[in-house]
Amino acid sequence: MSEFSSTEKAALGSGADFWTTKSVGSVPALTLTDGPHGVRKQTGATDHLGLAGSEPATCFPPAVGLGQSWDTELIRRVGEALGREARGLDVDVLLGPGVNIKRDPRCGRNFEYFSEDPFVTGRLGAAWVSGVQSIGVGTSLKHFALNNAEDDRMRSNSDVDPRPIREIYLRAFAHIIRTANPWTVMCSYNRINGTYAAENRWLLTDLLRGEWGYDGVVVSDWGAVADRVRAVAAGLDLEMPGPGDRTDAQVVDAVRNGTLDEAAVDRSARAVRELAERAAAGRANRSVVDFDLHHRLAREAASRSIVLLKNNGDLLPLSPERSVAVVGSFAHDPRYQGGGSSHVNPTRLDVPVDEIRAAGGTVTYAQGFSTDGSPVDTADAIAAAADADAAVLFLGLAAAQESEGFDRDDIELPADQVELLTAILAVQPRTVVVLAHGGVLRLGSIAAAPAILDGALLGQAGGGAIADVLFGAVNPSGRLTETVPVRLQDTPAYLNFPNENSHIRYGEGIFVGYRWYDARDIEIAYPFGHGLSYTTFEYSDLSVASDDPGVTGVVAGLTVTNTGSRAGRDIVQVYTSKPDSRVGRPPRELTGFATTRGLEPGESQIISIAIDRNDLAYWDTRVDRWIVEPGEYGVEVGASSRDIRLTTTVEIAGDEVRLAIDENSTLGEVLANPAAAQALASRFEDNPLTSFDDALGVDMARMMASIPLGRLAGFGMRDEDIAAIIAAARTD
Ligand code: BGC
Repeated sequence: MSEFSSTEKAALGSGADFWTTKSVGSVPALTLTDGPHGVRKQTGATDHLGLAGSEPATCFPPAVGLGQSWDTELIRRVGEALGREARGLDVDVLLGPGVNIKRDPRCGRNFEYFSEDPFVTGRLGAAWVSGVQSIGVGTSLKHFALNNAEDDRMRSNSDVDPRPIREIYLRAFAHIIRTANPWTVMCSYNRINGTYAAENRWLLTDLLRGEWGYDGVVVSDWGAVADRVRAVAAGLDLEMPGPGDRTDAQVVDAVRNGTLDEAAVDRSARAVRELAERAAAGRANRSVVDFDLHHRLAREAASRSIVLLKNNGDLLPLSPERSVAVVGSFAHDPRYQGGGSSHVNPTRLDVPVDEIRAAGGTVTYAQGFSTDGSPVDTADAIAAAADADAAVLFLGLAAAQESEGFDRDDIELPADQVELLTAILAVQPRTVVVLAHGGVLRLGSIAAAPAILDGALLGQAGGGAIADVLFGAVNPSGRLTETVPVRLQDTPAYLNFPNENSHIRYGEGIFVGYRWYDARDIEIAYPFGHGLSYTTFEYSDLSVASDDPGVTGVVAGLTVTNTGSRAGRDIVQVYTSKPDSRVGRPPRELTGFATTRGLEPGESQIISIAIDRNDLAYWDTRVDRWIVEPGEYGVEVGASSRDIRLTTTVEIAGDEVRLAIDENSTLGEVLANPAAAQALASRFEDNPLTSFDDALGVDMARMMASIPLGRLAGFGMRDEDIAAIIAAARTD
């Protein structure tokens, strides 16, 4: 980096303004923009809270909706479209995807994240990154890491144990870094076990660059840097937004007075220069944006994202010949995206009631409720519902009720909406509820509706997509990526959310989402992975091939047959388990899934799903590494975490765990180490100890097995004998 002065190197590491980096020497300025589900390029006033306007761009379904498609091919295409729009607006890096785990349904920003499960999050996030970057536009994998609540997000400390950190919260990040190589990673605002993410050397250097081999740029979340010098030393490359020259000067001074290693500044300047080179190559890919095409893609994506939660008596699809009362202000003013920094200015907006009208039938509309507290007479809505052949009631949360920067206090629908539904159900049994929300809702009395479509947030073309599903032009295939609990009190982090005096205790450990509900056998409203179709599917012929299971994993094969009377696509889920594990593990964990093609009635498709051996591993805190336990694993194939249809088992050759032997090792651990066991046995010459069980009986042996080696001194063993056993272990 000799071509740059100290001042220039420091200048490369911080923004020029809200959305751009500095042009330094031969390194041009770069533009970074939100994201994730549309390009939010601000040309006038800038802010990161979504208050000021931005250039029109296609508003695709936010992650909460798009994730429900479980479709990596579709998400890759959405990514490509986002890349083309970013390119068209001269954006070099699109700030997304958000891959934090939905730990608690109250997190205000869950709409921007894919799931409660790290496996599906990782697969979908990787598809998104690959899609955007295939156009020559960078991404920013965020928010790294453990940012699972919004309340007090710039100070709060996530107190988390190593297993949940690795097995739940970092797994998706690791997968995406390894398979899709995002140009940038955005470190989060919060602290992790006491240290700010931006200053966390373990996170940014040891893990991200060291263990995972990441070679891109670590950018701070906007305003996340409390101390730039400490952050650069920990591995931060780029502070955003532009802090002025203040922190550049701090970096220069710190190098000069020896408190910051110049190599750290060189590394970050080099990373930013390389990012600029990548971006320059990307800019060569000029692309013309076809917004009509992107709107159609947004509609396709939205229709794949809708989950049919319930369909009693095959109420859906509706016949276009019949009359429909459309009720609810969201039918007219749709709730289609989240608030805060991701707020996109859509190129157009499908109005659900218009789209339903366009799909045929006689449609009446009544507002039914308001989202701003102004009174609405519900008489019209109830009368319209009673007079029509069916009612479609749009319910949900208003934008102001959930957003970046704060969490929800509950998971309730507004009471007036619930009352309206109850009144409508009393006069119209053929009532379909369409839900719009960014975070999970308690269904309570909504569950009384005979049919429920869960749209979550569907983006600008959601209105058309809802019409497509209501009338059967699209057979729904979306699946929940988050469990719907019966009560908030049943949720895993209920007592530890959001924080107490800025501390968030991740007390539920690895038992997040369905892992929790299944382990505790808690009744739920709708399980993870659930979603109905207008047809039915049957699974058969499950086989598990394990050619080389010790190395790469196993392949599950099965046949999916459309046994109903309509064409449709299915999503097959594979869960694995290790029931006799030596550590606490959930009854099942998602380790594979696949979407079928659209299957005609009677048609079958053979599906094979590879299960990566790494996804069977747990994080072993004794040796600080991933361990695949040897032995039998359960393999379950299902249509949700609670609808397991086929099961089998597979034998896996595990990893060997050699524990270091010292005075604190138990006799059980000593006996598991052949050389140390031999040395221990030789200390009992008069009574050769081949096995504790033989010598002592099983119960005594179990008691003895838990005694630390060093404590034998208190029972008469000589110190030199203890030392000899420890030394013998080292030779093994
Ligand atoms: C958000 C980021 C966003 C950034 C820039 C922050 O407040 O947490 O997700 O990319 O602002 O708008």
